[in-house]
Amino acid sequence: MFREVVIGLGNNPLVENVVKRYGMQMGASRFVAGRTLPDAVRVIQDINRQGVMVTLDHLGESVKNRTEAVQAKESYLAMLDVIKQKELNANVSLKLTMMGLALDEDLARRHLAEIVQKAAETDNFVRIDMEDSPYTEVTLRLYEEMWDAYAPHVGVVLQAYLYRTLDDLKRLSTPPRNFRIVKGAYMEPVAVAFPNKADVDENYYRLVTTSLELGNYTAIATHDEALIGRILQFIHNAAIPRDQFEFQMLYGVKFSVLKSLAREGYRTRVYVPYGEDWYAYYVRRIAERPANLLFFMRALADR
Ligand code: FDA
Repeated sequence: MFREVVIGLGNNPLVENVVKRYGMQMGASRFVAGRTLPDAVRVIQDINRQGVMVTLDHLGESVKNRTEAVQAKESYLAMLDVIKQKELNANVSLKLTMMGLALDEDLARRHLAEIVQKAAETDNFVRIDMEDSPYTEVTLRLYEEMWDAYAPHVGVVLQAYLYRTLDDLKRLSTPPRNFRIVKGAYMEPVAVAFPNKADVDENYYRLVTTSLELGNYTAIATHDEALIGRILQFIHNAAIPRDQFEFQMLYGVKFSVLKSLAREGYRTRVYVPYGEDWYAYYVRRIAERPANLLFFMRALADR
């Protein structure tokens, strides 16, 4: 309910104007590494020094024209170059609507292929983020195509709130592939997604354990410590090797938990977003936690 209200408000142009004007000073900078790639590089170096890997996201989604889609593709090619030059322990995460998917599927396919090819050449990896449900099918299709051409340099995200995801996971696990499993951050109708959080949490556990059992490399992307505890118990009982999975969290959320997992010898990674286009990302982070909205409202009142 809270999420629906916040995401609904986030679509209001007036709210968008206010938040865009003051948001960076009032909370967004907690979740966003900065406006430029050099800002992000400094953050990545700091995180790497603490024994944690990064996945770098250039913020942006739903580009409005082909020129913006080409610029987005170019920015990802540049990110892969910088990661290589500066020897950062980082891969990249991208959204297909930023590559032009809503304009032309073929354009997005070509952009994605260029980026994944570059990742293969630079011995790196591209994670395709998952967006809202109108894009699920096409995202998984493009992922399969890229996997066939460039495995193992590409992975995709699966969302536990969708009813379809367990079937998708089973279908896509021959051969074993590479998945990041998340709960899901968009506003989805009850026709496609579990409305109750407890069902999403239970499905999350089922998806992660199934993914590991089927031999997939699995990125366990959640800040839910109770779930992480249950999953670690499963990993221990099933003797899943440590190089078959990693824990991931978002920049600005529970870094201390991730660091203690790193100290225990688990692979860990922070999702680091940067760029000018931080608004939609920030709204989703607020929607995940009422306290984030309170923090923003207090900062607004103090101005
Ligand atoms: P849950 O929402 O139950 O939160 C558990 C606890 O974590 C909360 O009680 C709170 O303490 C803390 N917490 C969670 N979110 C917080 C926040 N924003 N601020 C402060 N504390 C917070 N989604 C998607 O649809 N497509 C995608 O591609 C991705 N990619 C992605 C990558 C990575 C690395 C992560 C960690 C997450 C995503 N997500 C995503 C987002 C995901 O779907 C989900 O919305 C968030 O991870 C929040 O869900 P949790 O699993 O953390 O559980």
